[in-house]
Formats: sequence, C-alpha cells, structure tokens
Amino acid sequence: MTEQVPVLTIDGPGGAGKGTISGLMADRLNWHLLDSGALYRLTAQAAVRHQVALDDEAALAELAQTLDVAFPVDNGQPRTLLEGDDVSRVIRTEQAGERASQVASLPAVRQALLQRQRDFCQAPGLVADGRDMGTVVFPDATLKIFLTASADERARRRYQQLQEAGVDASLSSLLKEIQARDARDSQRAVAPLKPADDAVTLDTTRLSIPEVVDRLTELLAQRGLADGI
Ligand code: DC
Repeated sequence: MTEQVPVLTIDGPGGAGKGTISGLMADRLNWHLLDSGALYRLTAQAAVRHQVALDDEAALAELAQTLDVAFPVDNGQPRTLLEGDDVSRVIRTEQAGERASQVASLPAVRQALLQRQRDFCQAPGLVADGRDMGTVVFPDATLKIFLTASADERARRRYQQLQEAGVDASLSSLLKEIQARDARDSQRAVAPLKPADDAVTLDTTRLSIPEVVDRLTELLAQRGLADGI
C-alpha cells in the first residue's frame, strides 16, 4: 500500500539545490530517491539515440513508456544506464537539459512517465525531486517542499559546478538559459512548475546546504518522521 509509505517531495526550479538536498535527505533518512528530472533527460537522450524528433509526441511517449534504464551504484558512485550504456555524464549537459525541458512539455510524455515515478514509492520512504512531485505525482505526500533561489544565485551555483567539473561556461549565458527554462517550465499547460497549495516554500539564496537539511529535518520531525536522525 503506497499510501502508507512516507514521501518527502522537493520541487522547484533548476539550480535551487534540489538534487543536492534530496540526495542528502535520502541518505540521512535511509529512504529511496527519485530524480524525476533524470527520467525526462533519459527520454530526450533515447530520442537522440533512436532519431526521434523532439516534437513527435506519440513516438516520444512510446519511448518514455518503454525506457530501459537502471540506476546502479558502483563503489558508492551512482550511475545512470540507458539500454545498458553509461549516460551519467551525457544527460547532465546543458544541451541535454534543454532537450529534457522540451520533451517535458508534452502531456503524453508526462503521462507515460507517471506510473514509473510512482513505482519508486517503496518502504521505508521516498524523497522525490522534481517540478510536479507534490502537485501531480505524489499529491498525498507527507511533506512538500518548494525550494527556490534567485535566478542570479542559481546561475552562479551552476557556473561553479561546471567550473569544478572542468567545463567552460559563461555566467551570463547560463543566466539567460536558466531564465528561459524557468519560463518554459512554469508556463507550460501541463503540470507547470508551481508550489503545491500545501507546500512549504524555502528560499535558499542565503542558506547553506546544512541549514536547508536541518530545516527539512525539523519539518519532518514536526510530522513525527525524523526519529533517530
Ligand atoms: O531537474 P532537471 O534539470 O534534471 O530537469 C530536467 C528538465 O525536466 C527540466 O527542464 C524540467 C523537466 N522536469 C519536469 O518537467 N518535471 C519533473 N518532475 C522533473 C523535471
């Protein structure tokens, strides 16, 4: 019975820290982790691989439905496999994010990925990271968080991440891309990016990662869910 499994949803725009915070919370709680953005990135990657146009909604939905993916952990390092090939890095590029945003705007693709996402909800609990986790995928979640940060701060964080990974980038073009993707994700007709009515919004512009984790742990404790952490 999935209803009894506690779910923590963490939604918000790209670069607000959802990935980092979701991973840390899942580790801390010893819960499963759903990185729903990865499923959209993988669908877009499968489209490139099978030469499906990014506006062919029916073919993309079919790809999403039959996506052959796995998330193994090798020596503590999480990896993402598409049809057996390691695509962990390739799906993280700006171009892959842009393509993911395009396929994510198609209702049939979102529908095709819905059950796959719900299947991650297993005991002892789930941390679900995305845009519509609290509004559409897990409307009955125990705690819904909407993480935000200013666009400037998100561009700065992304820039730093890329620098650390040895990837060349320009801060001003990152800011433009973030603003364009925010606009597309929040204006689309289906499952637009917005906080659930019962979500707690947390602006992380001036918060450190440990401060955000502590705040979420406190909110879970208020719901009787942070025993022993
Ligand atoms: O979180 P991310 O950057 O990996 O997400 C990639 C794209 O997928 C992003 O443009 C928004 C979209 N997405 C979505 O529409 N719904 C989700 N639950 C997760 C991601």
